[in-house]
Amino acid sequence: MTGDRWAQLPDFPWDALVPFAEIALKYSDEMIDLSVGTPVDSTPLLVQQALAQASDAPGYPTTAGIAQLSATFIDWARTTLGAPGTIGVLPSIGSKELVAALPNLLGLGIHDRLVIPEVAYPTYQVGGLAAGLEVVATDSPELLSTPVSMVWLNSPSNPTGEVLSLARLQDLVSWGQLHDVVIASDECYFELGWEAEPVSILDQRVNGGNLTGLLAVHSLSKRSNMAGYRFGTLAGDPELVRRILGIRKHLGMMVPTFVQYGAVAAYQDVQHVREQKERYRARRAALKGALSAFGFEICHSQAGLYLWATQNKDCWESVAGLAELGILVTPGVFYGEKAQKFVRVALTASDLAVAQAVSRLTAGV
Ligand SMILES: Cc1ncc(COP(=O)(O)O)c(C=O)c1O
Repeated sequence: MTGDRWAQLPDFPWDALVPFAEIALKYSDEMIDLSVGTPVDSTPLLVQQALAQASDAPGYPTTAGIAQLSATFIDWARTTLGAPGTIGVLPSIGSKELVAALPNLLGLGIHDRLVIPEVAYPTYQVGGLAAGLEVVATDSPELLSTPVSMVWLNSPSNPTGEVLSLARLQDLVSWGQLHDVVIASDECYFELGWEAEPVSILDQRVNGGNLTGLLAVHSLSKRSNMAGYRFGTLAGDPELVRRILGIRKHLGMMVPTFVQYGAVAAYQDVQHVREQKERYRARRAALKGALSAFGFEICHSQAGLYLWATQNKDCWESVAGLAELGILVTPGVFYGEKAQKFVRVALTASDLAVAQAVSRLTAGV
């Protein structure tokens, strides 16, 4: 016999896209997949080498990770995010896994309310429902009349590419700290700012050095083309991180030692991040121009790995129209009802595939 605890979970959205992949494959064997947003460029050699050098790993890794990893991350967070040197740091197997587990790791449950963005990466809701929380989708948690235990922020946003301003983050942090709300900020696209500079919740301009209740989630999947390594980091309020470490020690989920060494190499190097960003900049410009000429309006998209586009019609119609050209994109409805008229277009295709997408769009005008 099984329980019905998972009954509230939505259907896995990507399954609904399969028929459109079939249409796109009819156009050509070379379907251009701009849907999932999985990196296609190589993992930097320096990361591969660090992983290989650490591959003799007979012993268990610790849950807290190697000292070099937290020291390197703290250094990176200080220079890149403007964080204080006092942050707590905990490595994680992937940031999706961390997002899905965080309400549970914080000990939240059926009496708690979780706020997620109105248009959001689906795992925020899933993690809340999995732990039995009530999940409310709003961008203005401070206007709710009922108490809130935890808020997810996501800037730059997946899917919209919107960036939360310094002033907005300051307001949310003051409100959260006043009302004892954990503010978790998913910043996994932090280094991909195009028309706006992303600001971290750990930035001392945001929190004045008071990290109470503040947690940031970072990922190397997109920054360093390491999605296959599954590496994320939780950082922020040292007391909260210490408590989560205590729970994680019981649950396991330690990050493999060689992955940690790969992560150290990735966080110590900025050159590969700059090079990757330039690749995405060129792909973004090409796709933005072609989609606009094709009749899409590009909204938000100031940062991050996606273009957020609309033809002012139902997203499934747009998905179908692009599938006819052999191009697969994601319907906005995967991210919330409010996004019914949008599609999300990932920048994660090779230069050749992007050039092909541009020529198909241009010929399709
Ligand atoms: C907003 C957001 N958070 C977290 C993740 C998870 O990334 P990963 O688990 O590869 O670190 C993704 C992946 O697409 C994402 O878009």
